[in-house]
Amino acid sequence: MSSIMKGTFTYSNPTRLHFGEEALGKLAGELAGFGPVVLLSYGQASIKKSGLYDKVMEILRAAGKTVVEDPGVMPNPTVEKLREGARLARENKVDLILAVGGGSVCDYAKGVSVAAYCEEDPWEKYYVRMEPVDNAIIPVGCVLTMAGTGSEMNGGSVITNHAVKRKIGRVFGDAVFPRFSILDPVLTLTLPRYQMVAGCFDVMSHILEQYLSGTDDNTSDYIAEGLMRSLVHSSRIAAANPQDYEARSNIMWTATWALNTLIAKGKTTDWMVHMMGHSVSSYTDATHGMTLAAVTLPYFRYILPYGLPKFVRFARVVWGIDPTGKSDEEVALAGLDAMKAWMQEIGLVMSLRELGTTEDMLDGIAEGTFLLRGGYKPDLTTAEIRQILEACF
Ligand code: NZQ
Ligand code: ZN
Repeated sequence: MSSIMKGTFTYSNPTRLHFGEEALGKLAGELAGFGPVVLLSYGQASIKKSGLYDKVMEILRAAGKTVVEDPGVMPNPTVEKLREGARLARENKVDLILAVGGGSVCDYAKGVSVAAYCEEDPWEKYYVRMEPVDNAIIPVGCVLTMAGTGSEMNGGSVITNHAVKRKIGRVFGDAVFPRFSILDPVLTLTLPRYQMVAGCFDVMSHILEQYLSGTDDNTSDYIAEGLMRSLVHSSRIAAANPQDYEARSNIMWTATWALNTLIAKGKTTDWMVHMMGHSVSSYTDATHGMTLAAVTLPYFRYILPYGLPKFVRFARVVWGIDPTGKSDEEVALAGLDAMKAWMQEIGLVMSLRELGTTEDMLDGIAEGTFLLRGGYKPDLTTAEIRQILEACF
């Protein structure tokens, strides 16, 4: 068991964030710190539709940059796209990768950053074997258009290899974190509702993966509770009125703090919901946050007896459950019921079936789920994962 008093850590975060309605105005100043060639990586259609592409191009032109276009980064970016981007970056000797989009584009940019000068296959070296990065890295900057992943201020890069049905998240070190990120909540207002609520659940899940561990008294858990309370509050407002700027800006800021390494300090972490969600995505290509929503409650019910006091605390502090006259187990379960009601209220997917998962995929999804240690249930097995997935179906 780790505790904040026993935990030994170094905390720093190298990403400079510009937040708010005028944040794009900071891009020119950031660009001045890099060489002339910029790889402009973006998604499939949204930034052209919203007009953001034109604005960014204008800033790049005014800054005298040579722009190498890299469009078409798909949600759940693939290894094929990563290899293509790495070639483009290397052949054009780019000085900066500017990711304009959601978490997929930011994650992909970090992958290209380390893959461009990698002499072996980057998938094998950096995602399968998880080797330290020993080649030149191209700096990354982000203009974020979707709140959820926290990729704007972390070293995470999740890449999918459909051929082998594996989705693997690598967490790179400080050198790969975005050098800067621009977060203007207005840029998220064009998100389809489905993506907006999926992003909200992704944030909730990131916090819970770091909260549901340990029995010590830890400052990180109090921060996590505050973030969850803010998220539940703002997501309710945003679900009722997606154009509410205050709610959307709070969600965006909460998303960053949910996964910029702060709340994991002094703690072990669970991450099994994400491991299951990633395996589901590798079979169905489903939206990340929705895969998490589909598996969370059955997983929590399964691990609840092993971490009962924390589930009780979660119920009381985050969901306001009154413990009077209830056993600990009843309080904990009432918390999960309140969470379920919130999930339904904001419009999340509640089962794997809704994501196109079929029963014949469940064995493969269970086998593709990496087993991590750190959560409340010790020694979780693939057979147990298979059983949990059945309950998510
Ligand atoms: O491709 P475009 O046309 O841009 O459309 C995207 C995409 O279809 C659209 N979108 C984004 N911003 C928009 C918008 N549409 C209209 N208006 C806007 N402002 O939304 C769709 C989803 O975008 P995507 O980037 O895929 O979503 P998200 O930010 O949720 O990123 C998901 C990826 O991040 C990984 C996930 O596994 C997944 O691959 N994660 C990364 C993490 C990290 N770096 O730490 C942690 C997370 O747990 C997660 O695993
Ligand atoms: Zn996530």
